[in-house]
Amino acid sequence: MTNLQLIEENYMEKKEKLYEGKAKIVYSTEDPGLVIQHFKDDATAFNAAKKGTVANKGVMNNKISTKIFQFLEKEGIPTHFEKYLNDREMLIKKVEIVPVEVIIRNKAAGSLSRMLGLKEGAPLAATVLEFCYKKDELNDPLINEYHIKALRLASEEEINQIKRYTLKINELMSKFFANLNLELIDFKLEFGRYKGKIILADEISPDTCRLWEVGTGKKLDKDRFRHDLGNIEEAYQEVLSRIEK
Ligand code: TMP
Repeated sequence: MTNLQLIEENYMEKKEKLYEGKAKIVYSTEDPGLVIQHFKDDATAFNAAKKGTVANKGVMNNKISTKIFQFLEKEGIPTHFEKYLNDREMLIKKVEIVPVEVIIRNKAAGSLSRMLGLKEGAPLAATVLEFCYKKDELNDPLINEYHIKALRLASEEEINQIKRYTLKINELMSKFFANLNLELIDFKLEFGRYKGKIILADEISPDTCRLWEVGTGKKLDKDRFRHDLGNIEEAYQEVLSRIEK
């Protein structure tokens, strides 16, 4: 196939902007079941109290997310991923996002360390699964399954499915990154409803995971931006290079 044919094959016309978030934009397409997810270089932290841009971040996160979604699909996890379109865009299924962020923690870090007074990197005797209510005005508060049901954010059956997928994804991704000499400390997932079923949505990237280099403990994720550690672009590039090897 020539380059031009490839470009044509991957071309999808964007119709209208449906949603713009902190790091991504979603556009409609001529197909009502599919939308385009566009990755920006914008970075925010602490509910957008800190703002900046990271050169090329959108391009790297689009590629990293693509690889991880393809890997998870191959391992039997249904995701919204359809097709890599170009540097900053992927075609995805149009889902109704469940307004709950699901976090897995394999070691203490970030808000768990703050909340429970644990040292960064402290081992946990068991994996921790947390839910946060996706609501910027409230700063995405930590909630539990009773809150989810009380607010009708998801049904009991949906919560159970989300938990099963999340724990399986943790197993799969922990191994995936261990093979790249990276330790998956924690990560955040979002799920959506598609044709009555729960599927994995959003993105999986160094914006949404904590990844530490095995041996050195070097942080290769958004904590470099959150805490002004420098070399942010290099860290994301390092993750991408290891995935592409
Ligand atoms: P936390 O320790 O700040 O609660 O973050 C836990 C994990 O979730 C970490 O890998 C970063 C990710 N995360 C997001 O993807 N989006 C968010 O808005 C927050 C707060 C965390």
